[in-house]
Amino acid sequence: AATMDRTAACSLWIILALVAHTGLSSSPPTGKEAWSYVEVRNGAHMFWWLYYADSLDLPLVMWLQGGPGGSGSGFGNFGEIGPLDGDLKPRKTSWVQAASVLFVDNPVGTGFSYTDRPDGYATDVATVASDMLVLLQHFFTGRAEFQSVPFYIFSESYGGKMAAAISLELTKAIAQGTVKCNFAGVALGDSWISPLDSVMTWGPYLYTTSLLDDHGLEEVSSAAEAVKQAVEQQQFQKATELWSVAETVVEQNTNGVNFYNILTQEPDERRASVAGEDFVSLQARRHVRPLHEQSLSELMNGPIRKKLGLIPRNVTWGGQAEDVFSNMAGDFMRPVVDVVDQLLTAGVNVTVYNGQLDLIVDTMGQELWVKRLKWEGLAGFNEMRWTPLDDPMFPGVTGAFCKTYKNFAFYWILRAGHMIPSDQGPMALQMMRMITHQV
Ligand SMILES: *[C@@H]1O[C@H](CO)[C@@H](O)[C@H](O)[C@H]1NC(C)=O
Ligand SMILES: *[C@@H]1O[C@H](CO)[C@@H](O)[C@H](O)[C@H]1NC(C)=O
Repeated sequence: AATMDRTAACSLWIILALVAHTGLSSSPPTGKEAWSYVEVRNGAHMFWWLYYADSLDLPLVMWLQGGPGGSGSGFGNFGEIGPLDGDLKPRKTSWVQAASVLFVDNPVGTGFSYTDRPDGYATDVATVASDMLVLLQHFFTGRAEFQSVPFYIFSESYGGKMAAAISLELTKAIAQGTVKCNFAGVALGDSWISPLDSVMTWGPYLYTTSLLDDHGLEEVSSAAEAVKQAVEQQQFQKATELWSVAETVVEQNTNGVNFYNILTQEPDERRASVAGEDFVSLQARRHVRPLHEQSLSELMNGPIRKKLGLIPRNVTWGGQAEDVFSNMAGDFMRPVVDVVDQLLTAGVNVTVYNGQLDLIVDTMGQELWVKRLKWEGLAGFNEMRWTPLDDPMFPGVTGAFCKTYKNFAFYWILRAGHMIPSDQGPMALQMMRMITHQV
């Protein structure tokens, strides 16, 4: 019994030491929340949900999910960074301990956002950005206490493409005085900034990680080459179609590697082919449905909608998600590298962060477009060496590398796939604190 006690005490001590070391709070969240809709265009309603941090001295972080059609209020909140997990248990790595967190279901039709009209969906990032600007204008007018709080946009996947465009419009709106906020930076996580660079590096990345043989490499490379030709000819709808073909070639040659984490395999329901299915619905099934797993859908359409109270009776969380995706299909493969360049030139703090095990937006592809930036600081950035960061849970074990030069930073997050906070919660929280200048 004495040995048992000592062992138990020792484990408790280790847990306490870890909590102290990482600053992870273990008490359940008690914070204030608010949520509402904004009608951003006629018949187009956008839902937001805010979790207040304990203090207005902490920054405000807006989180944008990918897809397009993935819901921040659902997947980002309960699956990644919110105060509660999908079982409504407190999340130790909740971002609300270090920031007020604002989830916005965008584009219109995503999550609890909805359109009353079939022509209410966005079909390009310009509309996505102008819709968000309407929302932010309402938000900062209605909650003036946040106007001086440093405001950061964090994003994942397609959310990064939207975040870049939104950040540029926001910078202009602040200069014109139409939005009052203290915009402090944008962080692009595993972001679809240069779709072609992602697709072109799938082959080499999978080959060096033992997931393609020589035949597979040849087939994946030639499928990627076809995407490249379509993009170079500005045939973006066709490029989206060929991107879908390239994914099928990857699936076939890797025995179904998971695009979001190469150390796992795609679940069967994502792989199974459906007779007569067009490429848009295939891609929506591959990339929108994983963010709408049945358990999350039941949570959002059950207890959560009941708690929120204001969701219209005929609106289903996720009910318009695939339409969001299909309406954006013509814009999907367009790069926004030039937008990132404009942000850097405008002096906006830009961070790129990427998971080591992500395939769909692999780190190799991110390195390629970053090296093509026209930003005047690029040469200085390239000359610098990166800095290793300890994993907050395992002191002495490298959890990431990072490099910051002037207003640009890059974080290489180890042992994480596409959804970094789900895979490496403590490291993601630590990174957020660093980006928002809390450590
Ligand atoms: C919900 O019902 C209203 C009133 O009948 C209708 O105008 C609207 O289009 C419906 N919205 C959705 C998302 O189905
Ligand atoms: C932007 O980043 C630089 C370099 O890390 C930092 O000194 C500066 O305070 C940041 N600005 C804002 C508004 O966060």
